[in-house]
Amino acid sequence: MSRRIAVFGTGYLGATHAACMAELGHDVLGVDVDAAKLAKLEAGEVPFYEPGLEEVLKRNLANGRLRFTSSYEAAADFADVHFIGVGTPQRKGEFAADLTYVDSVIETLAPLLTQPAVIFGKSTVPVGTAHRLGERARMLAPAGDAVELAWNPEFLREGYAVKDTLHPDRLVLGIDRARPGNAEAVARDVYEDLLGEGIPFIVTDLATSELVKTAANAFLATKISYINAMAEVCEAAGADVSVLADAIGHDARIGRRFLNAGIGFGGGCLPKDIRAFMARAGEIGADEALTFLREVDNINMRRRTRMVELVRDIVGGSLLGTRVAVLGAAFKPDSDDVRDSPALNIAGQIQLQGASVSVYDPKAMENSRKIFPTLEYSTSAKEACQGADVTLVLTEWEEFRALIPEDLDSVVRNRRIVDGRNCLNPGTWENSNWTYRGLGR
Ligand code: UGA
Repeated sequence: MSRRIAVFGTGYLGATHAACMAELGHDVLGVDVDAAKLAKLEAGEVPFYEPGLEEVLKRNLANGRLRFTSSYEAAADFADVHFIGVGTPQRKGEFAADLTYVDSVIETLAPLLTQPAVIFGKSTVPVGTAHRLGERARMLAPAGDAVELAWNPEFLREGYAVKDTLHPDRLVLGIDRARPGNAEAVARDVYEDLLGEGIPFIVTDLATSELVKTAANAFLATKISYINAMAEVCEAAGADVSVLADAIGHDARIGRRFLNAGIGFGGGCLPKDIRAFMARAGEIGADEALTFLREVDNINMRRRTRMVELVRDIVGGSLLGTRVAVLGAAFKPDSDDVRDSPALNIAGQIQLQGASVSVYDPKAMENSRKIFPTLEYSTSAKEACQGADVTLVLTEWEEFRALIPEDLDSVVRNRRIVDGRNCLNPGTWENSNWTYRGLGR
């Protein structure tokens, strides 16, 4: 059955969810306080790079199922299903999550709810938040106990956001066990098509649903840091971590995915989520259970330092006065997101050690410039490599994987390449008289 849905927040999560809910046949209102973002979305423009999203957005704007507004009143009048998709960044100077935006949706929306409604939280929040928000919403809403709050965590990956929303691995719903209501039935309506495809649907309590999300991201971060720890050992032993990952990955219990060693994880999710998870565990008296995540974080941050050292070594011990080409600035390929990007962080550190750094990324130039205006930016990979003493591949965009030595032979000053993502074939470069270095190889 088609429902009337409001989605609060129009970032990676909210904009994708709003467009995809319309794609499923619902009538959707996307709500945000940022007028510039809304204007773009209304014009059919996605304010960030996400493959496939623009088509879904345009199609559903055209058929009238998707609209945008800054008015909470309009949203409360229109919809009886509300999704919270705003950000929960790391608090400045602390590990804990900043819940300002999530709180503010409830504080603004709940007083306008005069009819029965279900609010589904999608944002990543510390365990216990949903329970607190539910109490607050029922207290503020004129409809009182007829307002339900449930949690429906999101597992989408940037770069695959549309696919992950329309064909997720699983759907998870946390409901308030103490207050049986309609949330599950409403969720079954909203996701009718997905459930029809047999996508696993796990219904649980609020706390478990919140934890499923953080536990999943903590596991992924741990998997990456595990292989990066093995990379450190491989470096010391003269072994090759890529072959090691292939070999252990054949064991189905281990699996090859998310075992790519390199400069480590970044982005708007994994780093801040493991920190918020540790902070929350401390608050509820379970800090010992997650002390290993501190090591996961440490291993990850060490990769960036290691990369800088490797580059310094390869140019002969000092970066002062050298020219360094950096290919890749986004935290991963197929994204223009540079939040906590290992690539940009490394570019910045190398510049601070006296090198002149020229950066190229297929999509993340504008965002990079905003946070690192002092780096030099090029319009192509070739231009970035002009006169380079060393070339670094820091984000594994297809364009960089496909590079061959002949593309750069005539532009660089010195034939040296450091592969921060172990995404190149060492032999290809070595056979053309390049010095190749990978991390853990
Ligand atoms: C991550 C999770 O994968 C999603 O399931 C989750 O929904 C999302 O966070 C979120 O919480 O919103 P995302 O941040 O888009 O998704 O990025 P990932 O694909 O997980 O990559 C994270 C980082 O790990 C990237 O910097 C990537 O380069 C790095 N990575 C990934 C590795 O260094 N090695 C690998 O083998 C895999």
